[in-house]
Amino acid sequence: MGRAPFLAYGRQQIDSDDIAAVVRVLQGDWLTSGPDVAAFENEFARIVSAKHAVSCSNGTAGLHMAADAAGLTPGTSAIVPSLTFLATANCARYVGAEVVFADVDPDSGLLTPATLEAALARAAKTDAPKPRAVLPVHLNGQTCDMVGISDVAKRHGLVVIEDACHAVGTMGEGPGAERAVTGACAHSAMAVFSFHPVKTVTSGEGGMVTTNDDAMAARLQRFRNHGMEREPAAFTQHDEGFAPDGQPNPWYYEMAEPGFNYRLTDISCALGLSQLAKLSRFAARRKQIAARYDRAIAPLAPLVRPVAKSPWCDPVLHLYAVLIDFAAAGIDRGALMRKLKDAGIGTQVHYLPVHRQPYYRERYGALALPGADAYYARCLSLPFHPGLADTDVDRVADALTVALAK
Ligand SMILES: Cc1ncc(COP(=O)(O)O)c(C=O)c1O
Repeated sequence: MGRAPFLAYGRQQIDSDDIAAVVRVLQGDWLTSGPDVAAFENEFARIVSAKHAVSCSNGTAGLHMAADAAGLTPGTSAIVPSLTFLATANCARYVGAEVVFADVDPDSGLLTPATLEAALARAAKTDAPKPRAVLPVHLNGQTCDMVGISDVAKRHGLVVIEDACHAVGTMGEGPGAERAVTGACAHSAMAVFSFHPVKTVTSGEGGMVTTNDDAMAARLQRFRNHGMEREPAAFTQHDEGFAPDGQPNPWYYEMAEPGFNYRLTDISCALGLSQLAKLSRFAARRKQIAARYDRAIAPLAPLVRPVAKSPWCDPVLHLYAVLIDFAAAGIDRGALMRKLKDAGIGTQVHYLPVHRQPYYRERYGALALPGADAYYARCLSLPFHPGLADTDVDRVADALTVALAK
């Protein structure tokens, strides 16, 4: 019998229709900034019920664009939960703002209204510049309590930018509120998504920012395209922009502030569009696999538990993370990961709290964020993607059981 195939912790699922969609673009007239960009944006906006969806080259670019549109600048700061990927914090630094790290719930890894309040109180006691924005992160695909967070944000005049890179397709919001699709921005100014191959739908690399605010959408669009303004109504240099008869000059564009080239290609958008058409199938399969994992690891409690569930949310999980009491299990995380790897099972840690990265330690000193540290000390992401068979899930649970046996 051959060795069982290696199970990666995350993986894209590409079908022949995805390949055909990309080939169609390659054989057409546009490779970048063509009709598939608008089609992908329109379809994404429709699915999440947002007024605008602005595509960009990846989720990190989307966070950078959103940080700019939120008015983060030098002399301001952003509240960022420490339990996240680097980019959520880095986007504030890209625009010269400081980062105020917030703690998270130790069992879900999510920013809460209380940990946001605590971060604001800590910032008020230091010489951190005035907080201007907060970036709740929907870790693993579960949403934060957006109702509670937006209440705190309103009281403190904060712009809310959801880092929804893990949460394509998740229904969330908060206790007592009607569920809405993540990206509808019912309780935020903007939501940022990623289409990296391990995410729920992929466009290769890719990102999207959704908003219901016309001015923010216009700013996001300019920022991703060098800061260029092509709309004659917005031109400020009339002599340059218009002919003597008042007609706009067809070649003319204006730049008030430099932007970046964060455009997404037609090739990527065609793939993203084709993948979006399968979102409900991917979501259903992810939910089945998560439920099977919940059952399969139940006998390992209390040593191993799934991450605490957000009661207000119906998640399409991006990652299936468990919390392991390594001390009680008598094995350290590295040793367990190596044992699982030897059994053909890939795992990953999401994430080392960002405040513990050398760059941020040097900038802000050592911080006490016990919730983030406690989550980090126990978390491990198991293989999780729609291509897994039920038997793969059982194989992972069995391998975990064997690896943890004393
Ligand atoms: C929480 C979070 N934010 C932001 C990003 C950045 O997205 P991208 O890889 O598309 O730049 C990621 C991607 O891994 C992420 O997980």
